[in-house]
Amino acid sequence: MKRAAMLCLIALIAACAGENKSEPLTWHPLEKTADLDPAPNVLEVEIVARQAEIEILPGVKSAAWTYNGMFPGPLLEAKVGDTLKVHFKNELPQATTIHWHGLRLPASMDGAMVMMDPVPPGGTFEYEFVLRDAGYYWYHPHMYTDEAMERGLYGAIVVREAVEPKVDVERLLVLDDMKINPSTGAIDVPGNMMEAMDGFEGNRIVVNGRADAVLPIRAGEIQRWRLVNASSARYLDLRLDGHSFRVIGTDGGLLPEPYDTDKVVMTPGERYDLIVQGTGGRGTEVPLIAREYYRGQMHGGDSTREVFKLRYSGASALEGKVVPETAREIEILPTAGVYDRLVALTQTDGFGFNDEHYPAVTPLHVEPQLLEIWTLRNMTDWDHPFHLHGNFFQVLDANGVMAPRHGWKDTMNVRRRTTVRIAVRHDNPGVWMYHCHILGHGENGMAGELHVGEHAE
Ligand code: C2O
Ligand code: CU
Repeated sequence: MKRAAMLCLIALIAACAGENKSEPLTWHPLEKTADLDPAPNVLEVEIVARQAEIEILPGVKSAAWTYNGMFPGPLLEAKVGDTLKVHFKNELPQATTIHWHGLRLPASMDGAMVMMDPVPPGGTFEYEFVLRDAGYYWYHPHMYTDEAMERGLYGAIVVREAVEPKVDVERLLVLDDMKINPSTGAIDVPGNMMEAMDGFEGNRIVVNGRADAVLPIRAGEIQRWRLVNASSARYLDLRLDGHSFRVIGTDGGLLPEPYDTDKVVMTPGERYDLIVQGTGGRGTEVPLIAREYYRGQMHGGDSTREVFKLRYSGASALEGKVVPETAREIEILPTAGVYDRLVALTQTDGFGFNDEHYPAVTPLHVEPQLLEIWTLRNMTDWDHPFHLHGNFFQVLDANGVMAPRHGWKDTMNVRRRTTVRIAVRHDNPGVWMYHCHILGHGENGMAGELHVGEHAE
């Protein structure tokens, strides 16, 4: 593990050294915070939510809400099976929680208000749980999310496999769509119902907290890009001219069968684990583009934007690099004779599930260990990224067409007027939320509650 990280670092330094000095790189690797426990299988950190001045646009200061004064918040890196302990303190003027998006953990640690009280200004909370699944996850508040996340509250979590695929360089990336005043640096947050409904669209894509990112690569090199879309609403329809992506993993870690594609659409909340080989020429530059995506807005789709520039060094091409094998065995959830539950995505006085609006919802009750198919029927003219807390699911089909790739998911696009079926085993007792991850939708009622087994009211 350590050695792989070292190699990455060396490769990164080597790649940077080959860069043209007149144009400084604006690529910022995610930074960590101190591990307070020397034990190898415990990651113990202090996370303080507080205001800070940060630089998102080069040379311009922005007043943000941060974890530990960092943007994104500290990278939490651990091995599968490790224990994560977080001493959390809220120094913001607003109550908040931390939700660990995608992690399977005890419900009391999930950070959703159905299972914990908000942490008031000046308050603290102790999070502690085991990291059960390798993968790339993220954390963010679970109240006033549309405002709090927009101001800068989120961070990445990487949980390592015992043996990770061998690549030349690994990039841990958090992509976000922000609205920043280019002269004052002021960060804009959603203000009205229209923005809530359309989904808040920014004017800059920021990569690991910086606009105008440039990522170095060397011809021939094999890079692994682990991505999360932290945008409030923007879908990222990613294209990299002249390159293809090998998708090796999604939300819940590696896929049983990787596949090659030249486009990846990421909804807010989703993660992708990609292998990109440097097939471009020495000294060239290729932009990673997020193509226009229409998800139902009144005012047209999410406009085409550049995410970052991929810049080839002048160094000679590396020869004989091989894309690593990454197949992983995954249990395919059985579906024969399994109860099929209809969860309709509806639009009656605003977006909701089954014509209800959170918090005035009828909770779903299931027995622990029960297997279910959820038929997510989108009856609206909008796409919605469906997110389930506390467990992964497997996508079965969309509009009757079989989903070919059985990876573990926790967030999934349900296209407008489309029905997606997912299989889920409710093996994690407690109260869990499911909701649309377009923050303006989730905050304004498009959420529901799932009760697995008995629990204290
Ligand atoms: Cu990423 Cu309930 O959230
Ligand atoms: Cu939605």
